[in-house]
Amino acid sequence: MAHVAVTGGAGFIGSNLVAALAQKGHQVTVVDDLSTGLASNINPDICEFHHLSLVDQVPLGLALADAEVIFHLGARGSVPRSLKNPVATHDVNATGTLNVLEVARSTGAHVFFSSSSSVYGRNGTLPKDESMWLAPMTPYAASKLSAEGYMQAYGSAYGVPITLLRFFNVFGPRQRPDHEYAAVIPKWIWKAMQGEPIDVYGDGSQSRDFTYVKTVLDICLDGMKRKVTHEGAINLAFGNRITLIQTIDMLRVHFPDLRVNFLPPRAGDVKDSQNDPVLLKRLFPNIVPTDFEIALTETINWLKEYGQSVANGPTVTD
Ligand SMILES: NC(=O)c1ccc[n+]([C@@H]2O[C@H](COP(=O)([O-])OP(=O)(O)OC[C@H]3O[C@@H](n4cnc5c(N)ncnc54)[C@H](O)[C@@H]3O)[C@@H](O)[C@H]2O)c1
Repeated sequence: MAHVAVTGGAGFIGSNLVAALAQKGHQVTVVDDLSTGLASNINPDICEFHHLSLVDQVPLGLALADAEVIFHLGARGSVPRSLKNPVATHDVNATGTLNVLEVARSTGAHVFFSSSSSVYGRNGTLPKDESMWLAPMTPYAASKLSAEGYMQAYGSAYGVPITLLRFFNVFGPRQRPDHEYAAVIPKWIWKAMQGEPIDVYGDGSQSRDFTYVKTVLDICLDGMKRKVTHEGAINLAFGNRITLIQTIDMLRVHFPDLRVNFLPPRAGDVKDSQNDPVLLKRLFPNIVPTDFEIALTETINWLKEYGQSVANGPTVTD
């Protein structure tokens, strides 16, 4: 069993990962500033919690000192939020990653990092593979690309074992549906559950390579067990592009009276997103993604049963 640290462990993906790691018997340390993550996601029986920010280098170093593996998921998420406050986004996402890597440089920990498909930005070619040019359109995407650069530099210059994963629209249980910057799937399900109309920015023809959180956990756990490292980025999505209109049709199976408000397109939103999963499948040949419709149904069922535990969380500041 290993000592594993999860930054952002009070958040959506992080708290799912903490539970999965603890279930496998690993010793888990969590670092989180609770800015979007929830204190209720921290179970003191399964992890040691450090309430601090990634920008606080010294306490961060102490918290991560004994970890053999670091899943670095802590970040200031959301494109619109980064447009309002680019410097804070850079401080947490780029400098915060540098701070994590500085720890790994001295301890030799294996660092997994959650980058984002948003780094492709203006590059509209589909599907995406890891050799394509990158053109961030927002400070969020730029901060993730900067962090990717540091990951690769620390791998090359100092031999830090790195696994640089680019997530593509992850969804599933524990994702907050309630705040202004909530992701589209939990937000829509939550509104549908209250009988409220859902908002679509644009005509709904935009598409995403949605990835179920369980698939992300399978990749993380498999990557840790087999010590999968790679010198460059690995896109984490299986190439299943779904439009928002298709998603709405699937939601109507569960919410037949669903009403939709069509609003003007939002600044900084990427029109389409789809991965070409050749590299992912070569590095993780045993991982089979959960079917989108099954994952959507599981997410709806989870929100119906436990949604109150992640709704009405603290306000997310700009
Ligand atoms: N969910 C997605 O679709 C998606 C897509 C691409 C990339 N990602 C990346 O995956 C990671 C996890 O995303 P998530 O969806 O679970 O988001 P989340 O907001 O639920 O989790 C992020 C966590 O980081 C914490 N955090 C924020 N700033 C911090 C700071 N300064 N110090 C310490 N902790 C801090 C938050 O409190 C939260 O618990 C993030 O790095 C995100 O950028 C997610």
